[in-house]
Amino acid sequence: MKILVTGGLGFIGSHTVVELLENNYEVVVIDNLYNSNISVLDRIEKITGKEFSFYEEDVCDEEALEKIFCENKIDAVIHFAGYKAVGESVQKPIMYYENNLVSTLHLCKKMIEHNCFNLIFSSSATVYGNPEVLPITEECRVGGTTNPYGTTKLMIERILKDICISNPKFHVIALRYFNPIGAHESGLIGEVPNGIPNNLMPYIVRVASGELEVLSVFGDDYDTPDGTGVRDYIHVVDLAKGHLKALEKISELDGIHYYNLGTGVGYSVLDLVHAFEKVNGVSVPYKIVDRREGDIASCYADASLALQELGWKAEKSLQDMMRDSYYFILKEKDNN
Ligand code: UD1
Repeated sequence: MKILVTGGLGFIGSHTVVELLENNYEVVVIDNLYNSNISVLDRIEKITGKEFSFYEEDVCDEEALEKIFCENKIDAVIHFAGYKAVGESVQKPIMYYENNLVSTLHLCKKMIEHNCFNLIFSSSATVYGNPEVLPITEECRVGGTTNPYGTTKLMIERILKDICISNPKFHVIALRYFNPIGAHESGLIGEVPNGIPNNLMPYIVRVASGELEVLSVFGDDYDTPDGTGVRDYIHVVDLAKGHLKALEKISELDGIHYYNLGTGVGYSVLDLVHAFEKVNGVSVPYKIVDRREGDIASCYADASLALQELGWKAEKSLQDMMRDSYYFILKEKDNN
């Protein structure tokens, strides 16, 4: 089977390409390197000992897509490419809506023109907004997103649903990720945010490695066990494996299906800090500051549908996530 992976050199994309190659899929990657680096290509080949086709192109570019679909008989697409910085999306909504929506529309158009009807879409738990119940099931109401990035995910799910309604041959699995962290155990690929990180884990590792001084913990007065925000952190390799399970099932399913990919367990900001310190034997200085606008108290998944229908379950522990995140950043520092 030949799989087209958009954004295949990015954080989740690169880990998924590794899993695909290790499971003998043929892989074609399209990535414009906006938020990734060409060195990731060699690193994936080093980890797997396998090669794949790479196009340095933009998914918004219809002609580039046409060329890829003409040169390759694609059986399924995994669509990761997209802008993903929450804060930036508030500053630059037009850029976010244009890029994330246009790329998906062009991709679906080309897929249908070339008789490729299986799409796995990289969605997010952000589509649930402020969740009405915990743990969050796929039955929960979606909407109430708090930023343009999140709204693009919600809108794309809706667009994909309409495409499925119009074309019964088209199958979509939208995977709603909770909070992906960790890195490949080789330390060769991981998360490399542009500039100062906004997300918790990339910030913690940079404080631990001395690159940043102190972690700001955004609020300790939430209605949670220790007052800090609770999230469902999931190892990126577990997440990557979820895409392979989805690939195995997609042609058996009609229309669009949604699955939460999380561990089902919530950890607070301070849980993470303390686990990180313990596993890695380093200290992470922190200070409590005001809440961050748009944050919610708690968010964690009921991931039982993915287990029942895809046979997928997160296997890695919080300790694995802490160890692998730090190992990657230390190795990166050595390389630079
Ligand atoms: C955010 C996005 C979500 C996106 C995800 C990617 C929002 C509302 N949601 O999720 O759409 O898919 O990133 O991983 O922005 N925290 C600190 N100090 C920091 C950074 C974070 O205390 O320096 C806290 C936050 O308040 C939160 C937790 O850590 O309680 C996790 O934050 P973060 O890693 O940014 O992820 P989310 O906000 O859950």
